[in-house]
Amino acid sequence: MTAVTTASSLTNDPRTRRGTATAIVGMQWGDEGKGKAVDLLTRDHDAVVRFNGGANAGHSVVVGGQKYKLHLIPSGILSAGKPCVIGNGVVLDPGTLLTEMDGLASRGIDLSALVISSRAHVVMPYHKDEDARREAIMREAEAGSEIGTTKRGIGPCYAEKAQRGAAVRIGDLLRPEILRERVALACKLHAEVRPDQAQVLEQALAWGEKLRPRVRDTAYFLQDLLAQGKSLLFEGANGTLLDVDHGTYPFVTSSNTGVAGIFPGTGLPPSVLGRVVGIVKAYSTRVGSGPLPTELHDQTGEVIRTRGHEFGTTTGRPRRVGWLDLVAVKYSAMINGATELAVMLLDVLGAGSGLKKLRVCVGYRVGGVVTDRFPADAAELEGAEPVFTELEGIDREIADCRSFDELPASARAYIGFIETYTGVPVRMISVGPGREQTITR
Ligand code: GDP
Ligand code: IMO
Ligand code: MG
Repeated sequence: MTAVTTASSLTNDPRTRRGTATAIVGMQWGDEGKGKAVDLLTRDHDAVVRFNGGANAGHSVVVGGQKYKLHLIPSGILSAGKPCVIGNGVVLDPGTLLTEMDGLASRGIDLSALVISSRAHVVMPYHKDEDARREAIMREAEAGSEIGTTKRGIGPCYAEKAQRGAAVRIGDLLRPEILRERVALACKLHAEVRPDQAQVLEQALAWGEKLRPRVRDTAYFLQDLLAQGKSLLFEGANGTLLDVDHGTYPFVTSSNTGVAGIFPGTGLPPSVLGRVVGIVKAYSTRVGSGPLPTELHDQTGEVIRTRGHEFGTTTGRPRRVGWLDLVAVKYSAMINGATELAVMLLDVLGAGSGLKKLRVCVGYRVGGVVTDRFPADAAELEGAEPVFTELEGIDREIADCRSFDELPASARAYIGFIETYTGVPVRMISVGPGREQTITR
């Protein structure tokens, strides 16, 4: 008899893993403040896991007055020593990752616990070129038809994954023979953007050597952590309304950005998930094209953009700004099964904004009929006119508040309205980018 080695005899014991994991997911169009929430909740968890998206994400975290911008590395990396996992569902641009790693290392951040899935797909240079090329063609064909992507090669890389044949996974970077074949085929398939085959191959092999020590079968790596009784925190990238299935298609990204992306993106079963924290910005923002029903084109929008520093972390583009859309948030809470909400950037609406009244979207008028259902399709949503309720403006600055009771009644009423409308409790309120500027309930 040959002895069979098992990583852990507990691996398949459901009692060790049921409901122990937490997910952080965005309830809007991204940039809700997921990075800050992940940084905070990392304290209560043993490992942090990215499961979707790629370097299109930009998560800013402020620790001790220092700002860190993370694109591919889980925000948990700022809490030294905890395993941070880039799961198989991520499309990984090794060049961007290595630059990000160097930047963090030079600032004294410990990267020893960063682990990468061998099955994550590699964003190759021709994917980025193709992303830009497609956008240009669409823009030329009809202004406004382009997605307004981050040009990080996200769509072409996920497409290659689904197409198969020429896709390169992280594990392939360590297999020169296979890599050579894949790159040769890919260069044929992507001939329009004229990739330099020799250069691409050389680059990919170099990436592989640099990443080799971190590459694992992360499905087993994560199962083993669970078997040891460790708790996992999943860090969603992008936002639910950018989900390729449930967002405002076609103006979305190319992955499942909500909890549904966790399972294919990690290899873990749904039973691991207990807590689902929906991250809600106190108003709406969107980068790129596509409908934003509550969009503000006036001075109020300008004030919120300035106070909220609403410029993209990844591309620097000014973010479009609008009133809080609770129809959209309630829909996202439903899609994700949010067990609680965290309301971020509430301080932006404080007295200094000069906003005496705050509008909140509570319905859409579609063809003369008012509905509280979110039409998750760009064409349908374009035809939806928001129906607003007006609430009192927040009559003080609140960045120094540290408990719910310290918040003025107007701010408490705003939170109460969100809870009542969505039916989901708000357990965290953020009143500034710093770790300490957080109210928990
Ligand atoms: P993410 O992509 O969801 O992680 O969000 P981003 O990091 O792209 O954008 C959120 C921005 O708001 C970052 O610059 C954060 O530092 C900042 N931020 C987070 N929470 C708060 C808050 O409560 N108040 C203010 N003023 N800024 C915040
Ligand atoms: P985080 O994780 C905001 C948007 C892009 C574009 C669309 C498709 O920081 O919340 P892509 O490059 O993914 O093909 O672009 O999705 N987008 C985001 N907007 N925050 C993000 O990530 C985003 N990731 C993608 O602006 O409209
Ligand atoms: Mg962001």
